[in-house]
Amino acid sequence: MTRTITPATRLAGTLRLPGDKSISHRYALLTAVAEGTSRIDNYATGADCQSTLDCLAALGVPVRKTDSGVVIEGVGLDGLQAPARTLEAGNSGSTMRMLAGLLAPQRFSSEICGDGSLSRRPMRRVIEPLAQMGARIEAREDDFPPLRLTGRRLRGIDYALPVASAQVKTAILLAGLCAEGQTVVREPVRTRDHTELALAHLGAAIETRQRVIRLPPRPRLRGQDLVVPGDLSSAAFFLIAALLIPGSEVLIQGVGLNPTRSALLDLLVSMGAQLKILEVRERAGELAGDLLVRAAPIRGGVIQGPLTAALIDEIPVLAVLGAGSQDGLVVRDAAELRIKESDRIAAVTENLQRMGVAARALEDGLEIPGRAAGTRGFRAAELDCFGDHRIAMAFGVAALLADGPSTMREAESASVSFPEFYDTLERLRA
Ligand code: S3P
Repeated sequence: MTRTITPATRLAGTLRLPGDKSISHRYALLTAVAEGTSRIDNYATGADCQSTLDCLAALGVPVRKTDSGVVIEGVGLDGLQAPARTLEAGNSGSTMRMLAGLLAPQRFSSEICGDGSLSRRPMRRVIEPLAQMGARIEAREDDFPPLRLTGRRLRGIDYALPVASAQVKTAILLAGLCAEGQTVVREPVRTRDHTELALAHLGAAIETRQRVIRLPPRPRLRGQDLVVPGDLSSAAFFLIAALLIPGSEVLIQGVGLNPTRSALLDLLVSMGAQLKILEVRERAGELAGDLLVRAAPIRGGVIQGPLTAALIDEIPVLAVLGAGSQDGLVVRDAAELRIKESDRIAAVTENLQRMGVAARALEDGLEIPGRAAGTRGFRAAELDCFGDHRIAMAFGVAALLADGPSTMREAESASVSFPEFYDTLERLRA
């Protein structure tokens, strides 16, 4: 679907966002193998987290949608059933990689497939450690979906992650739940720790010290009532739109502020953002709070090293911020962006260039010049979403800043993580 987006003169209002995508996947997967009923409120509304629920239902887990979220009847560590058909992860890399960990130690075999984009994304990074645990997983060219898993007994390993990946870390920990002996994962840089927090909250004696995570086997997980905080990666689009559109003021309530995710806020402040964090509270180990943002002149910035890993999902919209800033943005150490839902380095560069921004793609990043003085920095253009939700939303923001209406092909891609994105944007137009 092609969508036309007109420029905005000001954004104002208060909003609450659907639940965090990363946390929703984990709450669903972990409560499915816990004992007893869990109510998960504010479960993410996007297609990716629905894929996880559909896979769990196909594995015999009773899953019920409610007005406020979902109810999952946990089947315990040994209660998953052989699926009658191939499990469909859709566009969701998280579903496929994490589910591979959960299914590798089962007594049954299973197959997980994905859409065209997911079928081109690397899975060796999960196959390798799981194989070291004793798993048998076949993949196209030993790397790409579909994955065929033959259930096997697994043993815990001590594994140093070669790439910083919370999905791989989670896959190993999920496999470790049913393995013999302790599972240890060592991270090169700290990645999002939602799995560790959720496991601890559900009753596992998991321990993290200096980027080393230790999980004893067969913890007793107990079902709980949980609330997913609003998605900070979705909030990023509104924060950045409000910063760049003069006169804007937006309050976003109940946003997840887990320190392994909130590097975005520090970066925005370092670039000149006017940002206040109000009413911080904690639930199940996860922090959440309200974010008040006002338009402000934004300087340039550099994202590299461990900061890149901490901001990886936000880089498409940060690239838009860079183009609307005074001095521009440089991103390095971001080769991972090339193997996300699209090649995000190529997609961002292409769209920025169509909007008249002299962006340059690097092998592992981007160089984006700031805007010319006296302009908002973007020319109206025909944009492409490349089937990628974060590209759709990042350029939905850029289109608000353009000098006329822009069109976006495949705008519906946003619904993978945030089906309400365009409606929410429209509500904020003052
Ligand atoms: C995610 C981890 C990140 C992130 C993805 C979600 C997660 O991927 O980019 O959108 O929920 O664990 P990697 O683990 O591959 O870095």
